[in-house]
Amino acid sequence: MSLLFSPLTLRSLTLPNRLWVSPMCMYSAVDGVPQEWHHTHLAQFASGGAGLIVAEATAVLPEGRISPRDTGLWNDAQRDAWAPIVDAVHARGAHLGVQLAHAGRKASTWWPWAAENGSVPEDQGGWPTVAPSAIAFDGFAEPAALDADGISAVIEGFADAARRALDAGFDVLEIHGAHGYLLHQFLSPLSNRRDDEYGGSLENRARLLREVTEAVRRVAGDAVPVFVRISATDHAPGGFTPEEAAQVGEWVMADGADLIDVSSGGLVAHQRIDVHPGYQVPLAAAVRQGGRIPSSAVGLLTDGAQAEAVLAKGDADAIFAGREWLRDPHFGLRAAHELGDDVAWPDQYLRARWR
Ligand code: FNR
Repeated sequence: MSLLFSPLTLRSLTLPNRLWVSPMCMYSAVDGVPQEWHHTHLAQFASGGAGLIVAEATAVLPEGRISPRDTGLWNDAQRDAWAPIVDAVHARGAHLGVQLAHAGRKASTWWPWAAENGSVPEDQGGWPTVAPSAIAFDGFAEPAALDADGISAVIEGFADAARRALDAGFDVLEIHGAHGYLLHQFLSPLSNRRDDEYGGSLENRARLLREVTEAVRRVAGDAVPVFVRISATDHAPGGFTPEEAAQVGEWVMADGADLIDVSSGGLVAHQRIDVHPGYQVPLAAAVRQGGRIPSSAVGLLTDGAQAEAVLAKGDADAIFAGREWLRDPHFGLRAAHELGDDVAWPDQYLRARWR
């Protein structure tokens, strides 16, 4: 059996394989409530051999939405709309996680295919944004620096959303600490200029992510796995570094995380990224530290043999893919077929295995 299609047990959850669907915003919710689109979109991967599907960045507070069309978990109506989506994935024998998110200074923006771009004006459905410091992202509206009460409300927002996610039946909780959103804004000296206990040293910049991780773990109890997605570099001078990411990975594991989902970038517009197949794998390897810290790799990993090689080299414990699953929702079945592995095909699709 390949490593890619071998199971992985995290706390009380055994995932049947290590080829997972990366969280992807669909910008198709109404008032934070997932719609029929999300149902069909997520369920298709469950029939396609995914060992785990993580639903899109889902706002823990309304002001934490990237766009007015993001999903949320800040109220019970949203929880109740997620529940049948989780059921649909479970009915196909797969597992569904959710990415809990707050966009900070990158909130209140137009969705990618809107006619406009940048910040949504308040008279067109936008809202004031918050951040560690009053530093705008690339022409977006200037955020207000969070005060102590605001920081407490963010931590509470993550905990309450985690509770609703568990009530809806989600199997994994992922904290979004990457891509230039709020928790990453605290981690990076490029966006965090605070002089209180949440700014300055790495220990201080990591404090909010650590407090959120602890709060989510308290809600999750002992059984449910918690992942933390980080950007392991800002790809910009003076930014967050892979060495800092490795330290933060260790800290959040001590705070109750079970796996670090290693991505990169998104904090500043002047980032320079050398994009090529598997370009973020060395970052996952740096955070993984030879297997001490369970880590996943993501980024232009688009076929089974390539993903298998990453695991065989010991650079990651699991593989997230995004766009390949959009091109082929049965990517998992195809990869297993190509690697000669047995994967739980839906009975209805078994004839596709014959030749
Ligand atoms: C993304 N990505 C992303 N990442 C994340 O952490 N939360 C999110 O909600 C989203 N949303 C999103 C939407 C769409 C349409 C795409 C294509 C991507 C990033 C994604 O999870 C993944 O990290 C990158 O796409 C790189 O992996 P691939 O696509 O090269 O396999």
